[in-house]
Amino acid sequence: MVSDSSRLILKGIYKSYGEQSIIENLSVSFEYNGIYSLFGPSGCGKTTLLHGMLGIVPFDQGDISGLSGRRIAVVFQEERLLPWSTVEQNVLLVLKHHYPKELAKQKVDYYLEAVNLINYKHSYPRQLSGGMRQRVAIARALAYGGEVLILDEPFKGLDIKIKTKIMDLIRQEYKQANKICLLVTHDRFEADYLADEVYYFEGPPLKLNKT
Ligand SMILES: Nc1ncnc2c1ncn2[C@@H]1O[C@H](COP(=O)(O)OP(=O)(O)OP(=O)(O)O)[C@@H](O)[C@H]1O
Ligand SMILES: [Mg+2]
Repeated sequence: MVSDSSRLILKGIYKSYGEQSIIENLSVSFEYNGIYSLFGPSGCGKTTLLHGMLGIVPFDQGDISGLSGRRIAVVFQEERLLPWSTVEQNVLLVLKHHYPKELAKQKVDYYLEAVNLINYKHSYPRQLSGGMRQRVAIARALAYGGEVLILDEPFKGLDIKIKTKIMDLIRQEYKQANKICLLVTHDRFEADYLADEVYYFEGPPLKLNKT
């Protein structure tokens, strides 16, 4: 089969935890130049699907194409900040090996500004609210950039104003020919606001209900 680099394709995916089947023969594809919401109830297997795509938990079976060799930025469901590093250092850390120092610092400031946290750049995660920590994680992923942006419920705890500001920025940066953004959420507003297309899931086992 000729590989199609304009799409990210998951084919015949299976994943179980012990006896429990979480993903069973799932096939789904996404076009580069697309922003997608993956919408589904709590526990249906969305995070498992993302972790499988990222290689964090291996799928039991199935093929992934159109992802390897691409730069992937992720906002995990838990924000995963380094507690001993400041907000600025947390964001800078992922940029260090990818951008010259000055550009990296400019990016940190730009994205901290974008998530309304520039005045907290020298604060530590423990000094921030949950929603603020979440915004640091979002700034970090956006600053890192990449062709694929994976967001696992990134906007929890954020008010509508900052949420829409960030979603506007993501649309501006990811509505481009060589990029894909995947948003996992169970918030209908977010799902519709950010994405061109909403994929509705149910499960487990995870099943694509409609698009
Ligand atoms: N490490 C694990 N070991 C065993 N079972 C797991 C593990 N991780 C997830 N599961 C099970 O897999 C199912 C799907 O979990 P997953 O985290 O993918 O759901 P989700 O759709 O992301 O839910 P939520 O919206 O609440 O984050 C759940 O029933 C959960 O109990
Ligand atoms: Mg989840």
